[in-house]
Amino acid sequence: MAPGPTEIPPQVLSAGGEPILHHRTPEFRAIFADVCEKIKYAFQTTQPVLTLAAGGTGGMEATIVNLSAPDEKIIVISGGVFGERWAKIAEALERKVVRITVEYGKAVKPEEVRKALSENPDAVLLCGTLSETSTGALHPIEEIAAITKATNTLFALDAISGLVACKLKMDEWGVDAVVSGTQKGLMMPPGLALIALSERALTAMKTKKSPKFYWSFESALKKLTEDKLPDTPWTPNVSLVRQLQVSLQLIHAEGIENIWARHELLAHATREAMKALGLTLFAETPSVSVTSVHSPAGINSGDIVKKMRSEWGISIVGGQGTMEGKIFRIGHLGYCDRTDVLMTIAALECVLSGLNVPITLGAGTKAAQEIFLNSK
Ligand SMILES: Cc1ncc(COP(=O)(O)O)c(C=O)c1O
Repeated sequence: MAPGPTEIPPQVLSAGGEPILHHRTPEFRAIFADVCEKIKYAFQTTQPVLTLAAGGTGGMEATIVNLSAPDEKIIVISGGVFGERWAKIAEALERKVVRITVEYGKAVKPEEVRKALSENPDAVLLCGTLSETSTGALHPIEEIAAITKATNTLFALDAISGLVACKLKMDEWGVDAVVSGTQKGLMMPPGLALIALSERALTAMKTKKSPKFYWSFESALKKLTEDKLPDTPWTPNVSLVRQLQVSLQLIHAEGIENIWARHELLAHATREAMKALGLTLFAETPSVSVTSVHSPAGINSGDIVKKMRSEWGISIVGGQGTMEGKIFRIGHLGYCDRTDVLMTIAALECVLSGLNVPITLGAGTKAAQEIFLNSK
């Protein structure tokens, strides 16, 4: 019940134990071809999706390396640890960063994005986050994409904890680069970065004079398309690619709309349970991937997290950075259902009671039960 790495379905786990295929064999390339095609559905795109052997942060760095050059300007929506990560990467790569600073727990206002874009028409990239895992906030991506589309600035989106959980329609909304990782909604171990690129991004990429080698999207794209079956320039993480094939089969079978609805339901039940326990939510516009909650007065959230794990075997997480000790976060994304949510709420009630927080045992569970009973 952490917002990543998340639980892995048994079929996906066991696929990771299969013998390693050599990556240039027809067998592996057929698996990779299937993955390259089926992954587009998760991004709601018809555009190519690149698969890099890297964590999510590697995918973010690769996106900046390929879609901008040193000294170019990048606008970053910084409303949490992961929004700020875009800024840190861009600064490390000697880009000029303009921050739109958003109070933690809040979502950026589309007008602020419009203002930043009009004040910085020379910005080559706007970087944002779909689901800001550190605060639990969901940003208004459809509106931001519509604003950005009318400018010469490309919109790069971190959907690492948002993909296959929060509604995202890359092509329809007009997002230029979507970055994700495998350890969240894709129900996989960590280790693959996935990046989808719009036509605009593919064109811009060709003009960027930015030093790169392993991260080169052009090399990855060439190998993806030059032959009948897609290939990779370097050795791919073959086991993870095979696991992704199985996870994508599950995702296609459930259907993306149903998956979004399941996440909405689990998030709704979790939020109502917290409120019924007298707790306060941290995020003003909460994401469906994770629910962030203020720790009760006088309680360090780290103690709740520790007890959940040691007494109940349930992993939730605390706050990061300035939010450390002050909030706890319950992930409900990926391979997660109503049973997981009910058990987590019931265990949390016991933990809070054990810490002498004045709650009514069962109040949170009841709120969630009612939501589940009233859902279709
Ligand atoms: C929204 C978001 N962005 C970026 C990252 C970083 O991904 P990774 O830890 O795979 O580098 C995470 C991981 O928690 C995340 O949730």
